[in-house]
Amino acid sequence: MKVDYAAKIPNNVNLAEDRQLTRALESWQPKYLAWWNQLGPKDFANNEVFLRTAVDVGQEGWANFGYVTMPEYRWGIFLAEPKPDRRISFGEHIGQPVWNEVPGEYRFDLRRLIAVQGDTEPASVEQQRHLGKTAPSLYDLRNLFQVNVEEGRHLWAMVYLLHRYFGKDGREEADALLERHSGDPDRPRLLGAFNEPTPDWLSFYLFTYFTDRDGKFQLHALTESAFDPLARTTQFMLKEEAHHMFVGATGVARVIQRTAELMKEHDTDDIRQYGGINLSIIQKYLNFHYSITLDLFGGDTSSNAANYYASGLKGRYHESERQDDHRLLNSTYKAEAVTDGHIDSIEVPTITALNQILQDDFIADCQNGVDRWNRILSEAGITTKLYLPHRGFNRQVGIFADYHITPEGVICSDEEWELKKSEWLPTPDDRSFVASLMVPVREPGKMASWLAPPATGIANKPIDYIYVKL
Ligand SMILES: [Fe+2]
Ligand SMILES: [Fe+2]
Repeated sequence: MKVDYAAKIPNNVNLAEDRQLTRALESWQPKYLAWWNQLGPKDFANNEVFLRTAVDVGQEGWANFGYVTMPEYRWGIFLAEPKPDRRISFGEHIGQPVWNEVPGEYRFDLRRLIAVQGDTEPASVEQQRHLGKTAPSLYDLRNLFQVNVEEGRHLWAMVYLLHRYFGKDGREEADALLERHSGDPDRPRLLGAFNEPTPDWLSFYLFTYFTDRDGKFQLHALTESAFDPLARTTQFMLKEEAHHMFVGATGVARVIQRTAELMKEHDTDDIRQYGGINLSIIQKYLNFHYSITLDLFGGDTSSNAANYYASGLKGRYHESERQDDHRLLNSTYKAEAVTDGHIDSIEVPTITALNQILQDDFIADCQNGVDRWNRILSEAGITTKLYLPHRGFNRQVGIFADYHITPEGVICSDEEWELKKSEWLPTPDDRSFVASLMVPVREPGKMASWLAPPATGIANKPIDYIYVKL
């Protein structure tokens, strides 16, 4: 499993031994770079950035840190080590050896799962491509670019699978990943949240907290897959994903810390005139990003999800550690539903509720961060608390999409929704206020007015290290 770094495409999959595949990927590479140079962070193409690059897939020391310009980043193909004698851990093929080729009957579904995951990766780079101009510090600018290059690498991970295992269809699918664009009215990205703009850094932190965390849960479900190359590639992607969620969790925490400081200093909740972001605005942004991310889990009851599970294509979060029969043919689950105008729970076959079950795990994980953010507030003596709105709030997908639901989880009329929505979701005024704070800060170690410094620097460097050479 040594990484071949001398190759044009760094990899640990013995690419050199497959001439045809190498040629196909080498012909996709210039298209990828053209996309990066057009729809990625192109204003910073010539700047050296202190980035980590994967050099190994082992637990220890997989990353190498150093200055590199982004178009020169060594995007590569890295699969986690195969587990000897790995067996399928759920569904109707449970106990059988995992697959190293795609079974014909699952070809369509697997290609679709890989294409949907692949589509999100370049989408987020497109969404974030203007943020470099307004970075609140050099430290944050570097973290943005680290996230961007790794999302690019995640695209490579999916494109490798498409090229290696799906022939001509796969190559076409790989090309289409570069042809759809975030927010493009004619050829949008496949999922709603990936067509929303990420116009400011508060949005960026909430996106990386919530939407990259959806990525974590989707990837975890795919690490359980019977299709072993998919399981191994998503396993390694999760290592990179952890940093994206760190950027989000600590980014929001630093905004809240600064807000708390300004509230204490000026003895008021409205700190806008002092260059800070009010807690009420942070809560509205949180409501927005959380609710559009919940939509990414798909329908609450889903025959697709049931089929993926029965076939062994996509498992549950931590499937192997769960104590049940891993077939789910006779079990039921208390799923949320709307009956007679009330939100209720009903018993449904577990296998049809897998999207909601994954979402439940996601929600519990999100709550941990909110609890940490609230500790910052209570330590500052502030009694206001942030919260996750009800899962039915502001939904476009699933059983709640037909209703207006308040953050407290009460179904409300269209009139009440229209009247109250400016208290629950960012208004144009909130957005333009946040935009007005987005002035770039480029002096090493300095932070924008609305943001506290991070606790530590990156890879043992000080906070005032020159993380990007401008
Ligand atoms: Fe990703
Ligand atoms: Fe990510």
